[in-house]
Amino acid sequence: MTNTIALITGANRGLGYETARLLGERGMTVFLGCRDEERAGVAAADLRAAGHDAHPLHLDVTDEKAVQAAAETIERTHGRLDVLVNNAGIGGFAESGGPSQTPLSAIRRVYETNVFGVVAVTNAMLPLLRQAPAARIVNVSSEVGSLTTMTDPGSPLAQLQATVPYPSSKSALNMLTVMYARELADTRILVNAANPGYCATDFNGNTGYRTAEAGASVSVHLATLDADGPSGLLWGDQSMSHRTDTSGPLPW
Ligand SMILES: NC(=O)c1ccc[n+]([C@@H]2O[C@H](COP(=O)([O-])OP(=O)(O)OC[C@H]3O[C@@H](n4cnc5c(N)ncnc54)[C@H](OP(=O)(O)O)[C@@H]3O)[C@@H](O)[C@H]2O)c1
Repeated sequence: MTNTIALITGANRGLGYETARLLGERGMTVFLGCRDEERAGVAAADLRAAGHDAHPLHLDVTDEKAVQAAAETIERTHGRLDVLVNNAGIGGFAESGGPSQTPLSAIRRVYETNVFGVVAVTNAMLPLLRQAPAARIVNVSSEVGSLTTMTDPGSPLAQLQATVPYPSSKSALNMLTVMYARELADTRILVNAANPGYCATDFNGNTGYRTAEAGASVSVHLATLDADGPSGLLWGDQSMSHRTDTSGPLPW
């Protein structure tokens, strides 16, 4: 029986690291796609010390050549990819005022990672994903990208300060999820977006009230869906909204 091969982008810390750890615990061979080779090496060594089959992989999602090189490495070593978790993301909150005060450069910077980076990585990895018997693509999104939630007067998220770069990048990522799922509907590849919930990571100065492990478990769920699992959904924990149930499909 051959190993399941997984690539997680932005895996040296936060939710990406936890996702790699949890998939490693399930016996998968995990590639930690990281833009900083030293941090990637440290993270992979930590996971190997815990008994996981973990490998650092240089991958800046905004660098198309690095993305292509990463795909070539996986092609050369394994010839296929079973799980892709597009996790790398940035907030860009420091540069984000209200929409009317936001420089285009701030929006472009966030989109380069959160939107264009996902397209670059997914397209580079798709030939490898097509070689797998039942590949899974997980796009790590957020409920703040949900137009329904952000316009629901009953949702605490609708009370957040109006900003453009991050929420709109996740809305775009949600639509990417829908479109990839549609294109790949006649394959065995399932494509879904994960909402990890508000998790304590560097992303928010560790103010989140969920653990990184709890957030990562949403990606793990979508990365390990059965063959009859859903495709083209935003899925996850609902604890930051006004709803009381815990996990399931979320509105777009
Ligand atoms: N934490 C939350 O509450 C929360 C909620 C909803 C959604 N999310 C989403 O979850 C994902 C992970 O967030 P997190 O909380 O784990 O954030 P984090 O702790 O800030 O970690 C982000 C990771 O992404 C990597 N990264 C950023 N730009 C990259 C690039 N161009 N190429 C490769 N890697 C890059 C970072 O690498 P470096 O170490 O090199 O910077 C880091 O490993 C993001 O997509 C975020 O939007 C988080």
